[in-house]
Amino acid sequence: MADKQAPPEGGRGMDTFVSLCKRRGFVFQSSEIYGGLGGFWDYGPLGVEMKNNIKRSWWRYMVQERDDVVGIETSIIMNPRVWEASGHVGTFADPMVDCKSCKHRFRTDDLKPNDKGQLVCPDCGGELTESRMFNLMFKTYVGPVADDASVAYLRPETAQGMFVNFENVLTTMRRKLPFGIAQIGRSFRNEITPGNFIFRDREFEQMEMEFFVMPGTDEEWHDKWIEARMRWWTDVLGVRQENLLLREHANEELSHYSKRTADIEYNFPFGGFSEIEGIANRSDFDLKQHEEHAGKTLRYFDEASGQQVLPYVIEPAMGIDRCFLTVLIDSYAEEDVKDEKRTVLRLKPQIAPIKAAILPLSRNEKLVPPARKVWELLRPHYMTQYDDAQSIGRRYRRQDEIGTPCCVTVDFDTLEDQAVTIRDRDEMTQVRVPIANLLETLREKLPGC
Ligand code: GAP
Repeated sequence: MADKQAPPEGGRGMDTFVSLCKRRGFVFQSSEIYGGLGGFWDYGPLGVEMKNNIKRSWWRYMVQERDDVVGIETSIIMNPRVWEASGHVGTFADPMVDCKSCKHRFRTDDLKPNDKGQLVCPDCGGELTESRMFNLMFKTYVGPVADDASVAYLRPETAQGMFVNFENVLTTMRRKLPFGIAQIGRSFRNEITPGNFIFRDREFEQMEMEFFVMPGTDEEWHDKWIEARMRWWTDVLGVRQENLLLREHANEELSHYSKRTADIEYNFPFGGFSEIEGIANRSDFDLKQHEEHAGKTLRYFDEASGQQVLPYVIEPAMGIDRCFLTVLIDSYAEEDVKDEKRTVLRLKPQIAPIKAAILPLSRNEKLVPPARKVWELLRPHYMTQYDDAQSIGRRYRRQDEIGTPCCVTVDFDTLEDQAVTIRDRDEMTQVRVPIANLLETLREKLPGC
């Protein structure tokens, strides 16, 4: 694993990635034509494909391929008492200060003293208010009357949907400990300082799994899940090991529910290693809290001991937006090819938004019909793009920049031999393949797609 002090990989600034995302239709500013809104982002046509691929990969690894995890999908707005029980109403807060002059708001722990040792507004140098706690949950009202009785919150984590459904899943799916419940969904946090592109958002997506275990086996399961999660980042997503770090939380840093937490961090171009996933031992905190607040028993009958037990919970929790950014940065390369520069995203084929591009050598009227036929052949099987604008070299570069693993070129020989050329993104090699064998060849080149 990497040294915490190592400089960020490649030395490229975030501008490179923000600009690529905008230019190639991965990520746009939310409501951009109105000037955007801090901490909110839209995923474009390529971005949504890549994000869906990340989600599919996680679901496959965490649910489909396991015999001890099931999935659910719960509502974003829940009974507000859930958030009293979980501790979010009382403790989900950051310290913040306001500038008395420009009215901008800052996280207290982000501020650095000036050369006179004073904390002043970093934007205008104005005087700051006393630090006070600011709850990060977005408030709303349910129903037509906006009063205290109708207050509800947009969920700040998906986890509570799993805890309050523990009993439902346990009984309907006839589960025995240990078993897990997984969910992918949106979460909302009114972050005081959103930023670093899609790293810290106010609306984001999480992929979380609550793994319920017998008390006493929790530490062993925690270690197993830390190892399994790290393997997903390296082996499944292909993120380079040297850019990842496993960091244990110090005692004073632990969340109110956690017995132990280990974070997986990535070496980002801004500020170095930062959290991309947390794997926490939440003990029996949440189930116990919900038992007390809801007045319902959430115990598991352990046949071996004849006892009703309150399970412990191991929770791997990650954000998709941070994962998206990680994969994008880690796969990015600029290379010199002959006299040209090429930018390439060396994405794993399962994660790449477009699997194959169909490129007729030119817009010649004889080439377009067979090229369109090849496109029709591939469309039911893979996410594809058809591109016939500009030179073939320019089109290869365009596909490299969005990480397309295979380009299928239709040329004048195709009219004679009913074959096409497959050009490999990483090696830039080309092989000639009969159209009759094209799907079979692509299946080999695009494993798991
Ligand atoms: N249920 C536990 C939980 O939510 P967390 O460490 O607060 O734990 C888990 O969040 C993951 O969610 C983080 O590792 C990060 O990837 C993602 N995340 C948290 N806050 C985020 C934000 N404001 N913007 C984008 N992703 C965020």
